[in-house]
Amino acid sequence: MNQARIIELPKFEDPRGNLSIIEEFKNIPFKIERCYWIYDVPGGEVRGGHAFKVQQELIVALSGSFDVLINDGINEHIFSLNRSYHGLYVPAGLWRQMKNFSTNSLALVLSSTKFDKNDYIYNYNDFSNLKSNERK
Ligand code: TYD
Repeated sequence: MNQARIIELPKFEDPRGNLSIIEEFKNIPFKIERCYWIYDVPGGEVRGGHAFKVQQELIVALSGSFDVLINDGINEHIFSLNRSYHGLYVPAGLWRQMKNFSTNSLALVLSSTKFDKNDYIYNYNDFSNLKSNERK
């Protein structure tokens, strides 16, 4: 799978409560231009069925759990996120979908770019064709 991977973030365990950290270029391989979060997801809902041409991101389950399905045009892999010290690094050019959100789950997404609608590929067939042309 084209480099989508779990990054183990620093974790300071403390009887007063644990603390984790993300610093750009230290824990993640990109500069953080934007962050957003997904919350209050009704049971059974699916988010993020698309790919980005340029945007790289890190997805963290700050609370609860959900699955992130990653597809590179050939292979598919499901990452289950349920630890607030695990970040899923998603490079550009991968199809990704988020589903199976637990009640009260909170997904933090750190992005390498400002919001740009033109960076989205919304149609899986377009994505798949792009990938197969890249392989030629
Ligand atoms: P979208 O990326 O389609 O959500 P998801 O991938 O979870 O299905 O974004 C949903 C809406 O929010 C869409 O109308 C665009 C808007 N949006 C912004 O305006 N800025 C942002 O940074 C993001 C992530 C979304």
